Amino acid sequence: MLPGENRIRDSFSSKFGIIAAAAGSAIGLGNIWRFPYVAGQNGGGAFLIIYLVFVAAIGIPVMMSEFTIGRMAQLNPVGAFKKIAPGKRWHLVGLLGVVSAFIILAFYTVVAGWTLEYLVQSVKWLFTSKTIGFSSMSTEALKAFFTDHYDHFLSGIWRPALWFVLMMFFTGYIVISGVKDGIEKYAKVLMPVLFIILIILVIRSVTLDGSKEGLIFLFKPDFSVVREKPVSVILEALGQAFFSLSIGMGTLITYGSYIRKKENLANTAVSVVAADTFTAVIAGLAIFPAVFSFGISPDQGPELVYITLPVIFQKMAGGFIWAFLFFLLLCFAAVTSTISVLEVIVAYFSEQLDMSRRNATILAMITVGFLGLLCTVSKDLFNLFNASPDLLLPLGGFFIVIFIGWFLSKNKSRKELSSNGAYSVGYYRIFIFLVRFVAPLAIAVLFLLGLYSKISNIFS
Ligand code: PFF
Repeated sequence: MLPGENRIRDSFSSKFGIIAAAAGSAIGLGNIWRFPYVAGQNGGGAFLIIYLVFVAAIGIPVMMSEFTIGRMAQLNPVGAFKKIAPGKRWHLVGLLGVVSAFIILAFYTVVAGWTLEYLVQSVKWLFTSKTIGFSSMSTEALKAFFTDHYDHFLSGIWRPALWFVLMMFFTGYIVISGVKDGIEKYAKVLMPVLFIILIILVIRSVTLDGSKEGLIFLFKPDFSVVREKPVSVILEALGQAFFSLSIGMGTLITYGSYIRKKENLANTAVSVVAADTFTAVIAGLAIFPAVFSFGISPDQGPELVYITLPVIFQKMAGGFIWAFLFFLLLCFAAVTSTISVLEVIVAYFSEQLDMSRRNATILAMITVGFLGLLCTVSKDLFNLFNASPDLLLPLGGFFIVIFIGWFLSKNKSRKELSSNGAYSVGYYRIFIFLVRFVAPLAIAVLFLLGLYSKISNIFS
């Protein structure tokens, strides 16, 4: 018997719970902080089209593959590969996922911590005199405020470190309560609230004077940027698709292992992908019309959300309300993602090292906490970790589709996807074609291109 196999496993209790939890993982800072600025720098609408192609041709098949592996094995990513492919080295793919989880959680929680800081600033603005918080800061002051967090050393490190630790605690608090009573319970509340807030913000943004330019930017494809730097735009789109969908590192193998046998995996994957993509687009809709309305250039980079938006909030009537809602949204989005990454490590520790959930969570928080604190003091480490998903996730995704496409028998994958014949799998031939040929080839070519460009950057 493999470690962890004899344990009683928790599971998601409803279809809505699964979709809320998995969409909660997918929808995060990647959608609301990263997607708008990456799209802004890479051609707006043209980037969106390339992104959508990757999501459909690679994202959905990888996500279905992860769910299939997880649910078939009912174990963490390492245990899952050990169980399905005994005596082979496939479990190293699971291990790569666990390592990626450590790296991603460390830097991601640091950024998530910034959102707490900004939320507190907006609450101050909301409840106290108008001279505290964002309202009183000049654009320069806002820049310095953000740079303090980003550049850490400038004004001492304790603030970003403090917010990081707090975010880690929130994450651990939810995860320690379990899959059904922690992750699912919170996702079921936070995700609907997140959507409501986002819709309110979209309505506010698109009804501002001059917001039409923002809509044109987001939806009218202008391929001039793509022609200028095609490789980098395509790589950004692929990296963004993996990161945003939470695929390629076993998060969805882990969540898949908590999905009950009677659920339809394909349908679940498509719903999650649709929710994630929809959210990225409407986050763009909440941000770009406002950005254009206030005459700001859309290609601000990572500062877009942390400097540009506060400047905009200051200028808007009732700005404190919008600031508060926006940063609350960002916090919710972040925490439903951090819990999913922590769960990868907790499932691994508890099953492979035979620990209680409580001890596994505490150990995970301490180890990731250590790495994350290093990220708050070293910008180089932060940048290294921040850049690593671009390579780690496609690498993991490549092996996952190869495993499903070429290693696992078709009978087995069909049986799992159809829930033992309960659902029709009319899509199966397309799925197999995608996981055998399209996804691995596309990922391999783009991965090598990405590696080449990273290495040539280092030496140039
Ligand atoms: N998908 C999350 C986001 O878009 O913010 C980030 C993420 C979560 C990446 C979980 C990877 C992961 F396993």
